[in-house]
Amino acid sequence: MVSGSRDGGARRRRWYRMLVVAAAVFFGHAATAAAGLQVGYYNNSCPGAEDLIQTIVHGAIRNDAGNGPGLIRLFFHDCFVRGCDASVLLDADPASNGTVEKMAPPNFPSLRGFGVIDRAKRVVERRCPGVVSCADIVAFAARDASRIMGGIKFAMPAGRLDGRVSRASEALANLPPGSFNLTQLVTRFATKNLTADDMVTLSGAHSIGRSHCSSFSSRLYPQIDPTMNVTLGLRERAKCPAATGRHDRVVQLDFKTPLQLDNQYYMNVQTHEVLFTSDQTLIDRPDTAALVAQYAANRKLWSQKFAAAMVKMGGLDVLTGPPGEIRQYCNKVN
Ligand code: HEM
Ligand SMILES: *[C@@H]1O[C@H](CO)[C@@H](O)[C@H](O)[C@H]1NC(C)=O
Ligand SMILES: *[C@@H]1O[C@H](CO)[C@@H](O)[C@H](O)[C@H]1NC(C)=O
Ligand SMILES: *[C@@H]1O[C@H](CO)[C@@H](O)[C@H](O)[C@H]1NC(C)=O
Ligand SMILES: *[C@@H]1O[C@H](CO)[C@@H](O)[C@H](O)[C@H]1NC(C)=O
Ligand SMILES: *[C@@H]1O[C@H](CO)[C@@H](O)[C@H](O)[C@H]1NC(C)=O
Repeated sequence: MVSGSRDGGARRRRWYRMLVVAAAVFFGHAATAAAGLQVGYYNNSCPGAEDLIQTIVHGAIRNDAGNGPGLIRLFFHDCFVRGCDASVLLDADPASNGTVEKMAPPNFPSLRGFGVIDRAKRVVERRCPGVVSCADIVAFAARDASRIMGGIKFAMPAGRLDGRVSRASEALANLPPGSFNLTQLVTRFATKNLTADDMVTLSGAHSIGRSHCSSFSSRLYPQIDPTMNVTLGLRERAKCPAATGRHDRVVQLDFKTPLQLDNQYYMNVQTHEVLFTSDQTLIDRPDTAALVAQYAANRKLWSQKFAAAMVKMGGLDVLTGPPGEIRQYCNKVN
């Protein structure tokens, strides 16, 4: 049957692609990058750029471990809104003078790591003025943070340009809230050409970092969400008072290994010890639940898939020509 042989061919091609990705991750190279990005993009134009950035990121995380999760989330929040174009870093949008992404509720006041990016940019500008984009610095920093917090090493293709537009409304429309269920998450990631697998894999980033109480207090009051482990619910209630005072406290996302980017998150999902509906819902469908179980049992598998998914997310809608530019300062357009 013709269609049978076509399927066989497709299966072989899929298998081959998987092998290429696996080999690429194994040897520390990213798979063929999307949209013309290249590993070692700055080899000739700014040799040492990736090392300089890594040194800054390392120092920043040594100073304050929270910069690690901060930088990984910054990359996600950049890429999901207008692609990975550093639009999340802009303090103003000269074209509209409206409210920018970084001021929108998914980002303000919780998003952090901006100071690290600014410092890296200053150092790189001193070495090679006008060469390295802020969007690439955000991507390199997230890659470096993954190595420092989780020993996950991979090459990050580069060559992104910086955008000139940043709208708060677009951050609201594109970034998923913690209240999303599985259907909503899968649909949202699909709009970014990311699969349910990618979504489950990337959610493992919630193995480090923190949350403000307000991001999940609806699962604590008026009663503890029945899908949340009661022991965890009671502990979080003690840390997050019902009366939303002026001060929105913060708690760790993974209270078991809070400083390690590892597969503990998936074990927590299985014991219902995760903060968001968006975390717990990953076991609501047989296919995603099976992936959660695989990752919970195999840290190495998850690490490799995480590296590949970060590279894939880094290719989202990238600007490689006009109106993209290399910003002089990461917080404003040229
Ligand atoms: C699947 C959909 C996702 C939802 C609904 C979601 C939601 C959230 C929420 C509500 C917080 C807490 C913010 C706060 O209150 O301070 C958070 C934190 C965090 N998220 Fe996600 N997230 C998702 C996916 C991702 C992805 C794909 C990544 C990166 C690959 C990521 C990385 C992080 C990190 C590292 C933190 C901790 C940030 C810090 O400590 O500063 N998340 N996320
Ligand atoms: C940069 O150098 C590395 C290491 O030699 C190499 O793997 C990569 O392909 C180079 N990239 C470019 C764009 O020259
Ligand atoms: C935005 O504000 C700047 C400075 O106040 C002004 O020069 C510019 O014309 C304004 N742009 C728009 C589109 O209103
Ligand atoms: C997910 O949420 C949407 C929107 O609230 C709702 O229509 C849908 O029924 C929910 N799906 C599941 C499986 O709960
Ligand atoms: C997703 O893929 C389609 C088809 O290849 C492409 O037209 C679209 O721009 C992509 N979207 C994103 C956000 O990468
Ligand atoms: C709740 O957490 C405890 C401690 O990790 C675990 O032993 C128990 O199985 C969990 N309960 C459920 C329903 O998953």
